Amino acid sequence: MSAVKQNTTLRSARLSDAEKIFALIHLHKDELVPKPMGDVVANLDRFVVAEVDGELAGCATYSVLPEIGAHDRATVEIQSVAVRAPYRKQGLGQALVEAVIARVSAFGASEALVLTFAPGFFKRLGFGEIPKSRVMHKLYSGCIHCTKHADPFTCPEIAMVKPLA
Ligand SMILES: CC(C)(COP(=O)(O)OP(=O)(O)OC[C@H]1O[C@@H](n2cnc3c(N)ncnc32)[C@H](O)[C@@H]1OP(=O)(O)O)[C@@H](O)C(=O)NCCC(=O)NCCS
Repeated sequence: MSAVKQNTTLRSARLSDAEKIFALIHLHKDELVPKPMGDVVANLDRFVVAEVDGELAGCATYSVLPEIGAHDRATVEIQSVAVRAPYRKQGLGQALVEAVIARVSAFGASEALVLTFAPGFFKRLGFGEIPKSRVMHKLYSGCIHCTKHADPFTCPEIAMVKPLA
């Protein structure tokens, strides 16, 4: 995968990254939906990571949502976008999201969805807010185990999509 800066590499995740990815996601439990280690390992091939001087600095992944849209033009949710604090504001978050978008565009996804507490970041990347009612199925399956908010419609998370070519 592409190089961002001289000391930075974007690449597909390896099994040896799984524990660090798990830790990075759990470090951001206020912003990201936690993933069990088994889930990280089982879907490791969907993760993109950013490495800076050999250290894992960020990650991002996706999930195909067959419940939204036609099967041959499914929506893909971008998940677990995180950059470790010392490496922020250097373009890594953007590069990770763009790498995931390139992957899912290659197999024909019609749009990328995010449910996020950082709408400003995704707006800069071409995402626009949609009513949460458009992704009811996703909300039902994703929010059913939420312990923070009683109702997905009063939860401050914002739903955003970016149409893909
Ligand atoms: C959100 C996050 C991934 C951004 O990572 P990053 O590497 O700092 O992002 P980038 O450097 O690529 O930023 C790209 C652009 O978005 C802007 N940006 C970054 N975070 C932003 C935020 N929270 N709100 C608004 N704009 C933001 C940057 O200023 C930059 O703009 P510029 O190109 O004009 O300078 C990172 O702050 C993070 O890991 N946060 C905790 C987890 C999280 O909230 N993840 C997203 C939820 S799905």
